[in-house]
Amino acid sequence: MSKLTNYWNNVADSWQKQAENSNAYFSQRTQLVVKLLLHYINSGKVLEVGCGAGLLSYELVKQGFEVYGFDVAEKMVKNTIEKLSAIQENPDAYFRHSPNGQVPFEIKFHLIVAMGVFPYVQDHNQFLKMLCPYLEEGGYIVASNVNNLSLHTLPALAAHFLSWHPSKNWHETLTAILRTGLDTGGFVDYNPQQQCYGAEAFDRLFAQQGLTKIQEVDLFCLNPLPLDRKALERTKIGKYFARNLGFHHIGLYQKTSKISAVNKE
Ligand SMILES: C[S@@+](CC[C@H](N)C(=O)[O-])C[C@H]1O[C@@H](n2cnc3c(N)ncnc32)[C@H](O)[C@@H]1O
Repeated sequence: MSKLTNYWNNVADSWQKQAENSNAYFSQRTQLVVKLLLHYINSGKVLEVGCGAGLLSYELVKQGFEVYGFDVAEKMVKNTIEKLSAIQENPDAYFRHSPNGQVPFEIKFHLIVAMGVFPYVQDHNQFLKMLCPYLEEGGYIVASNVNNLSLHTLPALAAHFLSWHPSKNWHETLTAILRTGLDTGGFVDYNPQQQCYGAEAFDRLFAQQGLTKIQEVDLFCLNPLPLDRKALERTKIGKYFARNLGFHHIGLYQKTSKISAVNKE
């Protein structure tokens, strides 16, 4: 089992617990993404890539979407199925473990959701290319990425410096934080050609695959500071700062060659 899969299997229960706390950052991020999506699409088939504890899938099922999902971590999928069984019939037919990260369904979707997954993917371009054929023409994809040079990184760096220890491990964690903003480094082998950091590079990646950016929201991820409370209502200058100094860049992109019937308007 890879380090990545092992890590997410081990933290599956605690991740679910903290993410379900309505005051927690990830729970607020989920609500914000649902709000953002409902401006553009309100029905159809959804694929959640890296469904984790199933937070977003749960909310989308509640909104009436037909939601499918997969994750490389088996324990995460098990937790999602348990959670979804309260509101969805046969959730085990919709949520699958995919050890190699390939899409385990042979259908097309009106919406693909990949929140918090790209930082753990070795090759962003290859991953997005793998997902694109599963998206209907006119369909949407919402995805997030991290910005290594964010305000969120500063406390993480400070805490790491305070724990100084002359070991290989300490230096590896320092490099990971500086490169990715995550102390695990996303478990990727670093190669600047394969991952993109920051909003601009991420948007460019999607544009290269023919996906037009429709909306974006950038989050500082600095709980309990209130910087993200009105993230969808930022002024032009607020957007600029959030885009450049925020930690999570969330983009909503559309396959635009033909607008499908799932559009609200
Ligand atoms: C930060 S969690 C996010 C969970 C969920 N998307 C959310 O926003 O609450 C990342 C999840 O992505 C999964 N993951 C990482 N790489 C993946 C890949 N290549 N394919 C599918 N799942 C992946 C992990 O196992 C983990 O459950």
